Amino acid sequence: MQIHETAFVVSTYRSFHEDISKDVYAKLWNNAATDALIPEILDSVSEHEAILHSLRNRFFYDKMQSFFDTENGGTLINFGSGFSMYQFSLPESVKTIEIDKEDIIQYKKEKIDNWTTQGKLPKREIEYLAVDFNQRSTQEIVEAIRPLVKKTPTFILIEGVFFFLDRTTTDKLFQVFNSLQEPQDEVGCVTYLPEVENTSVYKRLLHYFDSHNDANDPFSHQTIPYSYFQDLEEYTIFETTDEFELSKKYASNSRINHATEVLNETLFLLKRT
Ligand SMILES: C[S@@+](CC[C@H](N)C(=O)[O-])C[C@H]1O[C@@H](n2cnc3c(N)ncnc32)[C@H](O)[C@@H]1O
Repeated sequence: MQIHETAFVVSTYRSFHEDISKDVYAKLWNNAATDALIPEILDSVSEHEAILHSLRNRFFYDKMQSFFDTENGGTLINFGSGFSMYQFSLPESVKTIEIDKEDIIQYKKEKIDNWTTQGKLPKREIEYLAVDFNQRSTQEIVEAIRPLVKKTPTFILIEGVFFFLDRTTTDKLFQVFNSLQEPQDEVGCVTYLPEVENTSVYKRLLHYFDSHNDANDPFSHQTIPYSYFQDLEEYTIFETTDEFELSKKYASNSRINHATEVLNETLFLLKRT
């Protein structure tokens, strides 16, 4: 599986549970190649993956709605944005900067421009930036993004990405966030905690990736401890939850009985101090 395919997979998951994810535009990305990958993942890793990714989307959708409502707009900076579509559900007063690898960004921009012209998507102000986080320095990334931020405050989102990065790149990105943001700005982010490594479902995930890494994409399998976020000097943890907790709130019929049965990611809202 190549990294860009993971972005199609999570987008398709969101389209399976629009009532939970609140993403009514995800289905625009559905395609036969991704549909062919999904049954094996649900079967060999976890049947709950689609609901969990929809819960993650719902959490950030709700949090960004209230952040931008209170602030009367601002800029969403989405790192490793894949095919996420928040910008079309958020108010028009929100500008978006989409950052991902070159192939994703080119493909996404072309498709979004076409769908907007065809009236399938509402018009939004979106900037696209191709960056490989592993290859560019803190300064290069900051200098590329800063001119694109035309409206404050900023909400930085990075979801479904840390798993694929190593700690050096993660540290670099937090330096980037710190340089770009002002006090009271927020970061929404997601990680597996190291405890998850002991669960059979996580071992099945790694096995799936290792046995399907046909393109030899160089990605890591990072987990990050809670203390990493506590120790960030320029950010405080404002809110934290996990997908198991969210399932009780938004998907009570999901038959998930215990956090260790699922690929339970921990979600953080951080506030710049
Ligand atoms: C699982 S997808 C998640 C996409 C999106 N955030 C979502 O939740 O729908 C992971 C995304 O991270 C991006 N990504 C991974 N490593 C990256 C890197 N080194 N530089 C830039 N983007 C990267 C991938 O291209 C992909 O779009």
